[in-house]
Amino acid sequence: MSLIFDSLTVILVAFLLLLSHGRVDSEPVQDKQALLAFFNLVPHENRLQWNASASVCTWFGIECDANQSFVYSLRLPGVGLIGSIPPNTLGRLSQLRVLSLRSNRLSGEIPSDFSNFTLLRSLYLQNNVFTGDFPSSLTRLTRLSRLDLSSNNFTGSIPFSVNNLSHLTGLFLQNNRFAGSLPSLNPSNLTNFNVSNNNLNGSIPQVLAKFPASSFSGNLQLCGSPLPSCNPFFPSPAPSPSEITPGLPSSHKKSRKLSTIAIVLIAVGSALVALLLLFFLILCLRRKQRSRPAKTPKPTAAARAVAVEAGTSSSKDDITGGSAEAEKNKLVFFEGGIYSFDLEDLLRASAEVLGKGSVGTSYKAVLEEGTTVVVKRLKDVVVTKREFESQMEALGKIKHDNVVPLRAYYYSKDEKLLVSDFMPAGSLSALLHGSRGSGRTPLDWDNRMRIAMSTARGLAHLHVAGKVIHGNIKSSNILLRPDQDACVSDFGLNPLFGTSTPPSRVAGYRAPEVVETRKVTFKSDVYSFGVLLLELLTGKAPNQASLGEEGIDLPRWVQSVVREEWTAEVFDVELMRYHNIEEEMVQLLQIAMACVSTVPDQRPAMQEVVRMIEDMNRGETDDGLRQSSDDPSKGSDGHTPPPESRTPPSTVTP
Ligand SMILES: *[C@@H]1O[C@H](CO)[C@@H](O)[C@H](O)[C@H]1NC(C)=O
Ligand SMILES: *[C@@H]1O[C@H](CO)[C@@H](O)[C@H](O)[C@H]1NC(C)=O
Ligand SMILES: *[C@@H]1O[C@H](CO)[C@@H](O)[C@H](O)[C@H]1NC(C)=O
Ligand SMILES: *[C@@H]1O[C@H](CO)[C@@H](O)[C@H](O)[C@H]1NC(C)=O
Ligand SMILES: *[C@@H]1O[C@H](CO)[C@@H](O)[C@H](O)[C@H]1NC(C)=O
Ligand SMILES: *[C@@H]1O[C@H](CO)[C@@H](O)[C@H](O)[C@H]1NC(C)=O
Ligand SMILES: *[C@@H]1O[C@H](CO)[C@@H](O)[C@H](O)[C@H]1NC(C)=O
Ligand SMILES: *[C@@H]1O[C@H](CO)[C@@H](O)[C@H](O)[C@H]1NC(C)=O
Repeated sequence: MSLIFDSLTVILVAFLLLLSHGRVDSEPVQDKQALLAFFNLVPHENRLQWNASASVCTWFGIECDANQSFVYSLRLPGVGLIGSIPPNTLGRLSQLRVLSLRSNRLSGEIPSDFSNFTLLRSLYLQNNVFTGDFPSSLTRLTRLSRLDLSSNNFTGSIPFSVNNLSHLTGLFLQNNRFAGSLPSLNPSNLTNFNVSNNNLNGSIPQVLAKFPASSFSGNLQLCGSPLPSCNPFFPSPAPSPSEITPGLPSSHKKSRKLSTIAIVLIAVGSALVALLLLFFLILCLRRKQRSRPAKTPKPTAAARAVAVEAGTSSSKDDITGGSAEAEKNKLVFFEGGIYSFDLEDLLRASAEVLGKGSVGTSYKAVLEEGTTVVVKRLKDVVVTKREFESQMEALGKIKHDNVVPLRAYYYSKDEKLLVSDFMPAGSLSALLHGSRGSGRTPLDWDNRMRIAMSTARGLAHLHVAGKVIHGNIKSSNILLRPDQDACVSDFGLNPLFGTSTPPSRVAGYRAPEVVETRKVTFKSDVYSFGVLLLELLTGKAPNQASLGEEGIDLPRWVQSVVREEWTAEVFDVELMRYHNIEEEMVQLLQIAMACVSTVPDQRPAMQEVVRMIEDMNRGETDDGLRQSSDDPSKGSDGHTPPPESRTPPSTVTP
């Protein structure tokens, strides 16, 4: 009996011993298998030998936790690993805190099971030849604090979801081929950041502006602080010190800088206090001599700036009181505007050249929050600031559906900018002359009529209500609204330039008298509008030498063709596919010819031109197939005049 018990005890003890022995030597078996799988699949240098019979925790490059229950860190820098990381190998090390595979020749994409590393704090994959997009598996590793993907061959954009990595303190993406724009990355403790030598473009988000320029250098088209401004219209960025992002955790360098500033401020402050005391002393002494009422303070530049910020149009009277500091950033918005950005936003916008004209260059500026505006950078402005402002004030008041509203302006010694709405549908010039031929949708007759009508209305409003001469009518200044109505842009700028620049700058639209007098008038606008009508009818650009003979302008060419009784030859071949429009085309041609009369006094006034176009007997010439009943180019009053009262344009003698 006892023998049995004894032997049982022995077995039990042995079993327990075995158990406990096994426990002491325990190793993370699953992690070991995962590592062996990796080791067997990925070629590496011979010196890296992992002994399968020894504990994984003793292997080169591996650390386990204190209880040896999981692999805690894996560091294999520069051990000649080659090829891609096979899935379902390393990805099984779910307890990993540190992973370094830097300076090998690993390639391919990062396996998606890297998202298993939910506890990972540091990931060093630099100096390999990994490819593919920014690994989306990594944006789930929310404990990550150091991420180094530098010097690989990654492509695609840097995703906004990097913000998922809220504990990130260092992000190193330099020397890859990342493209697109930089997302606004704002992990609160990010202190090291480098995206240099990629193919990034666009503006640097403000939250990243605290990093040095060398963090961003060597990219395709990255711009904005700390790199040069995005805006060709501001050659030198002039951010005021207050604009620098406040409240960011400061690195050592920054805090040192700040304390220097603080010292300076304290010094200046105490000097000011001393001066103030002296000033009061003198004041008191003077008061004793003669008492005098205190001067009411002038509205300060700051108060003005606030008014501008609030979007309320400001009184311009106090401008002269502005200091040089205020001089720098005054983006003056007109009343009733829809925008709420400031000069700083405009500075950070990415800009693209829309067109270069003789008065300046226009840019399409996309602000960070998505607003798109057109910024025109004027050159050779000769008028004084006051004259400039009063002209802007006049232009800013003009509100009409067929006039592109001017939203804001900026005047400084070096820069004069105009901000207006961006019209994505483009210009009449592009519609008429862009990519003729192959696969192009021609501008149909109804739309041409509609453009003629709405342009005329816009110009008449400028002349009558605004008392403003357009001065630069041409098809590239006629912009299309989404509803296909046209609106006129770039108006009323001639008074800003001296007579040294030709008033109407585009040959072909210029009235004959303007060439001599260099002075634009309401009647010279009518002439240019007449040329525009001819352009709509003939499909020929007046400023291009496509009229056969050299040096012959569009009105003279039309006149010569019409005189030879070849009227039909005048019209755009693209219009030939539409039926029953000949009469209207001839009527519009007659209006155009009246406008381009060489004698200014023989040209109709703009409001008469509007009436003439409105009075064309549209839609009554045919079976109604072409005309729709809601034809917008009819008179705004909606009634069609009876046939008897229709005035044939040729008989209207202005
Ligand atoms: C592998 O480890 C076992 C046990 O620790 C040891 O006996 C053996 O010598 C090792 N082999 C090599 C090649 O180091
Ligand atoms: C190690 O194991 C002991 C008991 O098994 C446990 O109390 C301790 O928390 C473990 N330590 C770690 C670091 O996991
Ligand atoms: C890790 O990823 C693998 C796929 O490679 C998956 O089979 C496994 O379940 C994951 N493990 C954990 C702990 O999430
Ligand atoms: C961000 O992290 C959460 C978990 O915290 C995850 O569910 C989500 O998918 C992550 N987003 C991306 C884009 O990876
Ligand atoms: C990166 O990828 C491109 C094409 O995908 C290839 O031409 C280039 O050699 C790669 N660079 C390296 C260092 O492998
Ligand atoms: C940022 O750092 C501070 C101090 O080290 C720490 O208390 C805080 O939790 C960190 N925040 C995040 C989101 O990691
Ligand atoms: C940036 O580059 C991408 C293509 O990589 C392009 O689609 C985008 O328009 C560019 N953006 C700017 C602002 O140039
Ligand atoms: C960023 O990386 C580039 C290229 O490796 C280097 O020249 C530059 O000094 C780095 N900048 C910072 C701020 O680390």
